[in-house]
Amino acid sequence: MKKTALCLSAALFALSMASVPAWAAGDAESGKKLAEQKCTTCHAFGKVIAKAGKIGPSLEAGIVGKPAGKTAGFAYSPGMTKMSGEGLTWTEENLDKFLTKPKDFIQGTKMMAFQGLPKDTERADVIAFLKTLPTP
Ligand code: HEC
Repeated sequence: MKKTALCLSAALFALSMASVPAWAAGDAESGKKLAEQKCTTCHAFGKVIAKAGKIGPSLEAGIVGKPAGKTAGFAYSPGMTKMSGEGLTWTEENLDKFLTKPKDFIQGTKMMAFQGLPKDTERADVIAFLKTLPTP
């Protein structure tokens, strides 16, 4: 009897976990490591990750919750400029979609050389890391 109750609560727990969107539960530390490996060829993260390229817009001022395509001095693709003009904001949900496969989310994006992060957990971790920016 006790065992059944335990099994039931375990099943309920698993169910409740499954209904939480993947991007809600990331680990910022592993996200930082992932960003170091996968994003720094093109993006700067300020003091948080010292060495970074400049092929992409700087993300050091933070990006989560901000309007897309607004880093001064960066020449965005026409696709990104269009979506920015239409009011695209980098909510966690939109970041999750974009990072899954950038070129599917923004037609002709300049970030197309980046294949994307197909794993839910990796995207959740990277987004959790992006939420820690900027760090004073
Ligand atoms: C091959 C270079 C490259 C890699 C690798 C790359 N990006 Fe990008 N990223 C870009 C470019 C270029 C743009 C501008 C896209 C455009 O104009 O269409 C961009 C745009 C973005 C934007 C939108 C910024 C804005 O100002 O609206 C975000 C967010 C972003 N990248 C996050 C990431 C993350 C997180 C990673 C790592 C998981 C990553 N990128 C990996 C080149 C890259």
